[in-house]
Amino acid sequence: MSTPRQAHATRWRHALSAYERRLAHVPPPPVAGRLTRMVGLTLEAEGCQAAIGDRCEIVSSPESHVEAEVVGFAGERLYLMPTGDLHGMRPDARVVPRTQAGTVRIGPRLLGRVVDGACRPLDGQGPIEAETSVRLAGRPINPLLRRPITQALDVGVRAINGMLTIGRGQRVGLFAGSGVGKSVLLGMMARYTAADVIVVGLIGERGREVKEFIERILGRAGLARSVVVATPADYPPLMRLHGAWLATAVAEYFRDRGRNVLLIMDSLTRFAQAQREIALAIGEAPATKGYPPSVFARLPQLVERAGNGVAGEGSITAFYTVLAEGDDQNDPIVDAARAILDGHVVLARRIAEAGRYPAIDIEASVSRVMHDVVSAADLALARRLRQATAVYEHNRDLITIGAYQRGSDPRIDEAIARWPQIEAFLRQDMHERVTLAASVAQLAATMAEGPADAARAKTTPEPRAAQESRAAQEPRGARDLKAARDARPPHETGAARK
Ligand SMILES: Nc1ncnc2c1ncn2[C@@H]1O[C@H](COP(=O)(O)OP(=O)(O)OP(=O)(O)O)[C@@H](O)[C@H]1O
Ligand SMILES: [Mg+2]
Repeated sequence: MSTPRQAHATRWRHALSAYERRLAHVPPPPVAGRLTRMVGLTLEAEGCQAAIGDRCEIVSSPESHVEAEVVGFAGERLYLMPTGDLHGMRPDARVVPRTQAGTVRIGPRLLGRVVDGACRPLDGQGPIEAETSVRLAGRPINPLLRRPITQALDVGVRAINGMLTIGRGQRVGLFAGSGVGKSVLLGMMARYTAADVIVVGLIGERGREVKEFIERILGRAGLARSVVVATPADYPPLMRLHGAWLATAVAEYFRDRGRNVLLIMDSLTRFAQAQREIALAIGEAPATKGYPPSVFARLPQLVERAGNGVAGEGSITAFYTVLAEGDDQNDPIVDAARAILDGHVVLARRIAEAGRYPAIDIEASVSRVMHDVVSAADLALARRLRQATAVYEHNRDLITIGAYQRGSDPRIDEAIARWPQIEAFLRQDMHERVTLAASVAQLAATMAEGPADAARAKTTPEPRAAQESRAAQEPRGARDLKAARDARPPHETGAARK
């Protein structure tokens, strides 16, 4: 029998050991330091203990504080980059490390909202109810567990659906110079795609364009099933990086819940430029065209997060715009993007100038997963249209000045005969939606057997293999022609019958 005194002591012992156990899980108090130097956008702090990616608060007075992120260190010195405006910072300001570095809270209520790179609302619609904390940098997926790309995604644009069919989980580059119709094309895909959720990352573009994209191009209906993350050009470079990461994290959130997501990132070039600004500011040496090596490490890290999830999860199909400055296709970012993406759609200025929108250069564009998501017959039709386009484009000058004599080359004769239908197929008004089925049917109608084939058959004997493959396509071509006539707008039906 214990005395009341002993029982009291035992209770105390238990209580103390419970506290001791809880103490083991409490993080150590942050060790604050002070701001010692600021050059350009780079801040240097001494005395504080923080790791790369940690957020710190820099307090120069009770009213003036700025958030910054640790981006590098040298010995005891930490390099930080601000995520906001630096006005009012003083030497010796306190630098206080914060917990929860590199995470952001998101949830399903983000649908229909416009936020910045820190997930703060920009649309004046009140605070966002978030349910989960996610890492901005995402979580890696075992590449062997990812589902392969086997299903096509309807993007609502005829030339892409028919000629460059996109697979669910594919990552595609949209390469173009300025003003050739990137935003309009992305907007069309956002409005017309069969994906469940659209996540738009507007990274480093002009502020005016953000409003225009949301109001004019995406529209109210498009925004309802979209999440827009906007970090325009006047935001600090770190916020622009965060914008791209947050947009990808939001896409991952919906993918993990089984949704098929279309992620649109405009632009990957501005993301690379933001990383270049940061890397150069903390002393990394420039390599290719002023881009330090870390830029080329960051690009695949970002892009690899898109794609299919593991079994039971959804997919992220991603379009990244890449600025081909001065329409230069050898820009290092264009080159890097071409290598890490599963295909690219090239928009050409000469086509836009000729008034054909979307200004897709079919010859220069490729979807590397198309053969996995369409039938052999549809692939063959696309190849035939591609070949006819190449023949026409290579002889365009001869044809337009009248120097080409009909009958000299049956391939050119066929290309000339089909050209009006091919142009009609590739052209699409921004307010027109063309489903995947209608696109394929219209492609079949455009490349259907016709007078051009008859003429060719008379002038050149066809090789046996070609005859066989043609025979294999015929029944489908005839079937599709009927479907296409039903699906086509009346003015195009007339053109197809001619
Ligand atoms: N499908 C289309 N149908 C008709 N006009 C189009 C179409 N696509 C683009 N355009 C025309 O091209 C113009 C420029 O398009 P857009 O703003 O999308 O270019 P951009 O490449 O995004 O330009 P920037 O480099 O300035 O961002 C549009 O204002 C519009 O007039
Ligand atoms: Mg644009």
